[in-house]
Amino acid sequence: MDYKQYITVVEDWPTEGIKFKDITTLMDNGPAFKSAIDEIVAYANTREIDIIVGPEARGFIIGCPVSYAMEVGFAPVRKEGKLPRETIKVDYGLEYGKDVLTIHKDAIKPGQRVLITDDLLATGGTIEATINLVEQLGGIVVGCAFLVELTYLDGREKLDGYDVLTLMQY
Ligand code: PRP
Repeated sequence: MDYKQYITVVEDWPTEGIKFKDITTLMDNGPAFKSAIDEIVAYANTREIDIIVGPEARGFIIGCPVSYAMEVGFAPVRKEGKLPRETIKVDYGLEYGKDVLTIHKDAIKPGQRVLITDDLLATGGTIEATINLVEQLGGIVVGCAFLVELTYLDGREKLDGYDVLTLMQY
């Protein structure tokens, strides 16, 4: 499916010079959203996966339906101060800004095979930080799946050695 027809490119948002890729117009379309999730599920089914991990907020939108379809658990990665129990954390850089990501310390057991999901691969800072959290807990990242990749920001360079699926590229 040509998913790009469902993405809305918003000029100068959230700051000047950014061409924001709005996935909500893909999510609005039931068959397009289902097809995108089905493609990620098909990718995930080519390997053994124990748990899916996704960073807030849009990593949840992609990861949870994949988790449901595969009948494996989902562990949220959240910004600091949002998870109620003991967490580990990592600092990371964004396309526009900086932040801290956290995960519950018991979310992943050592040796568990993890699929990471998010809507967008831009600079790769978020996914790199998410991988860092998974690996701090002894998880093995066996795949990373995104709807959109902004190839001009070279996020893939941070994912050398990891298996990556992106459904559309700009
Ligand atoms: C966006 C997007 C990815 C990340 C990609 O999330 O949903 O998670 O940026 O950028 P990167 O590859 O340069 O790290 P954002 O941090 O805006 O958080 P939100 O989904 O909670 O709005």
